[in-house]
Amino acid sequence: MTHIKPYPISPTLHVPASIPRPEYAGKSRPEPPYTESHVQPPEIIEAMREAGRIAAQAIDVAAAEIAPGVTTDHLDKVAHEFICDHGGYPSTLGYRDFPKSICTSVNEVICHGIPDARPLEDGDLVKIDITVFKNGVHGDNCATFGCGTLDQASHDLMVRTKEAMDRAIKAVKPGRQLNIIGRVIEAYADRFGYGVVRDYTGHGVHRWFHSGLIVLHYDEPSLTTPIEKGMTFTIEPMLTLGDYHSHVWDDGWTVVTNDYSRVAQFEQSLVVTDDGAEILTKP
Ligand code: MF3
Ligand code: CO
Ligand code: CO
Repeated sequence: MTHIKPYPISPTLHVPASIPRPEYAGKSRPEPPYTESHVQPPEIIEAMREAGRIAAQAIDVAAAEIAPGVTTDHLDKVAHEFICDHGGYPSTLGYRDFPKSICTSVNEVICHGIPDARPLEDGDLVKIDITVFKNGVHGDNCATFGCGTLDQASHDLMVRTKEAMDRAIKAVKPGRQLNIIGRVIEAYADRFGYGVVRDYTGHGVHRWFHSGLIVLHYDEPSLTTPIEKGMTFTIEPMLTLGDYHSHVWDDGWTVVTNDYSRVAQFEQSLVVTDDGAEILTKP
């Protein structure tokens, strides 16, 4: 199988001036450190439901376009228009100089792939990661799709990565420690010999795209932070058919497995409830 290579990237898309932007848009510097509580008030959570819904619907709209010959640039355009039409700002556009409105990561690309002119091929494993900023908050989600017909190993990896995420979401309860998430994901991935990516993690999400709260997808006993009602964060496991070690392309973004093994990823934004978690990125 040939490796994914960089293709030309189209000019920056426009967001109507009427759409409120996150504070980082157009600046290269990172957001200031977030020092407030990880527990969010009801009005932030309600705002996140709407941002999350648009982000989830945008994945559906983009994924419906996946077919051999279609470029990831086209998926970006379709999602961009959908998000703007719903009064949202595509959070990745201009985030630390990321040039596009969504991330598209194909086959051995783990995450942060930049939509470009590469035509999708039959059998490609396509991750679409979309974050929407609306009402002053972000909703962040990702899903994996097959282009045409997937080989059995890729198909199983896709299905089991979703299952790993769903099991981790079910394990979230107030009073437990954050490390329950990685423990559940790694134990499930181990059954199939899958690699669990360690260098990219889940994160707190709300008014900040990445708040500083880190959610590991592997078992780390020292991550004893108690899960509290009202915390909002993502769970976004990246599982590989081989090793989990990675490197980044010269574009500064595209993350690829060192052994070129294929990767699947799913992500939801959640809020911790009285007895579990509510998914905020539902269509
Ligand atoms: N959406 C990704 C995440 O799940 C972050 C993308 S940041 C970008 O955290 F700059 F690469 F777009
Ligand atoms: Co995320
Ligand atoms: Co994401």
